[in-house]
Amino acid sequence: MVKRITLTKADIIVPVFVTEGTKAEVASMPGVFQRPVADAADWLDALAGDGFGAFLAFGVVDRSRKDDTGSEALRSDNIVCQLLREAKHRQNPMTAITDLCFCEYTDHGHCGPLSHDTVDNDLTLDLLSQQAVNHAKAGADWIAPSGAMDGMVAAIRRGLDDAGHGDKAILSYSVKYAGAFYGPFRDAADSAPSFGDRRGYQMDPARGVDEAVREAELDVAEGADLVMVKPAGPYLDVIAAVRAAVRVPVVAYQTSAEYAMQIAAERNGWIDGDGVVLESLLAIKRAGADAIITYHADRLARLL
Ligand code: PBG
Ligand code: ZN
Repeated sequence: MVKRITLTKADIIVPVFVTEGTKAEVASMPGVFQRPVADAADWLDALAGDGFGAFLAFGVVDRSRKDDTGSEALRSDNIVCQLLREAKHRQNPMTAITDLCFCEYTDHGHCGPLSHDTVDNDLTLDLLSQQAVNHAKAGADWIAPSGAMDGMVAAIRRGLDDAGHGDKAILSYSVKYAGAFYGPFRDAADSAPSFGDRRGYQMDPARGVDEAVREAELDVAEGADLVMVKPAGPYLDVIAAVRAAVRVPVVAYQTSAEYAMQIAAERNGWIDGDGVVLESLLAIKRAGADAIITYHADRLARLL
């Protein structure tokens, strides 16, 4: 009667790594797989039947396809577009979200083309809007730009609208901290930068929550339909501050390292894995997240 916070499968966004290669478990993320299109579509159909709300697709492409601008991301039949078409063909009812970035497709692993030794922000904007249209045509419902480029939401909104995709929503990775919590993901997506780091475009964890609020407000002003805070668990104060500041849904991303730490401790017999997972997600909701991106879908299918 007096519980205020509830966790339901409808609140969960399920990341899916769709690969051109064969099915493989991610070494640093036990229980998470790179999946070929048919396997990914089967898995998502089962999760849809369980009531999960949405999936978030990441592409894993062969290194031979990667180049300095990530041009594979703009190809209309790339692996992400194949999954989108397959999911729509099967009438999977989950909201289809795509991660919009270039680090999975560039040979240097940065989130856009370089000029000198850093990402060229403004050149990336035009490419992001092309990539968004590519995903929209293949059936994406929401576009989730994750590269943290300045002005990305406005550029993508204009690109989608000009191409007749005014109905697609933008879930912006508005508040994204540079740090150590994305390591296992970069194994899963083969997207680690070959040199340097992402501190030129992602945020400094040592800054205050006021900067996070500013980033979220700027994205809303540019046309974001939903904003994201990432990572989630170590940034509950940020989730709460953003929730209080904006009038759009707030999504939180429980990242790959948050997942990996929980699984490692569980496998060592040091924690009650089910208990810790549920409590960690409940805390993220209590902080103010409307929806959560988490790698725990299979466990939650059993527990919720
Ligand atoms: C791509 C992207 C990253 C994640 C989501 N989209 C990695 C990064 O910024 O390096 C991280 C997700 C996770 O760690 O679970 N830019
Ligand atoms: Zn990226």
